[in-house]
Amino acid sequence: MPSPPPETVATSPSAQETCALFRTIRFEVTPTGQATDSPNTWSASPVAAGVGAYFEVDLEVVGPLDDHTGMAADIRTLDRLIRTRFAPLAAQALSNSTPPGSALRTFLDTLDANDPNIATIRWRLNPRLSIMMDSTTMDTVLISNKYQFAASHRLFIPELSDEENTAIFGKCCWINGHGHNYHVEVDVATPIDGAFDRHQLDAIVESTIVERFDHKYLNLDCPEFKDRTPTVEHITIVCHDLLAPELAAAGGELHQVRVWETQKTWSAYPVRSNA
Ligand code: NI
Repeated sequence: MPSPPPETVATSPSAQETCALFRTIRFEVTPTGQATDSPNTWSASPVAAGVGAYFEVDLEVVGPLDDHTGMAADIRTLDRLIRTRFAPLAAQALSNSTPPGSALRTFLDTLDANDPNIATIRWRLNPRLSIMMDSTTMDTVLISNKYQFAASHRLFIPELSDEENTAIFGKCCWINGHGHNYHVEVDVATPIDGAFDRHQLDAIVESTIVERFDHKYLNLDCPEFKDRTPTVEHITIVCHDLLAPELAAAGGELHQVRVWETQKTWSAYPVRSNA
């Protein structure tokens, strides 16, 4: 009998192929004491004894895959880097109000050729706020914060019939409108030694976006949408265009705005390859 054909096996990526690996490390610190080390758990490690501050750090490693393991980095090495080198810096920042960007830069400065090639580090200071540093631009941090406003809108084109609008927009063109809780995330680049801080970001977004759109019927109450259908795409562009000059005047550079209309639908502007 003829022998069966050899089994087809999936080919693995070629050696030296560059790939990005992301790892989230969760840990707790106290302002005055050493966190207690413990086995890796889903929640945090080190775990603070008593009351501690809970943080997450996202590491992005970019590099050629190891010929033997097929990995860009060993995730246990990444965990250890954050626990042994970054957690003490976070505790120090908590106790003496060191700017968080300085802690990120100090951490990246400790890395050498024996360490994984960390491309970016993002410190999640709370569920809405994070700061990110790129290892190639360590004089700058990217502050990202989320805000919210509630508003109603109606999607329709005035020149079209009800039937034609329904064909395009479905139930979103219902004549009396409908509402969303919009979530707005703003990324601002700022020098780590500059004066721009999160309080300014909050104040600018509050006065420029939230006060303008919160509890409004966007089609009629907001001149920004007089000649523009208030789609989530248009809302994102409008938010960007309103925020950019205000942030620039305060010393920040608007990097990107993202607006969620629902948990399943959101928009980003401008388009960034790494977003
Ligand atoms: Ni809608």
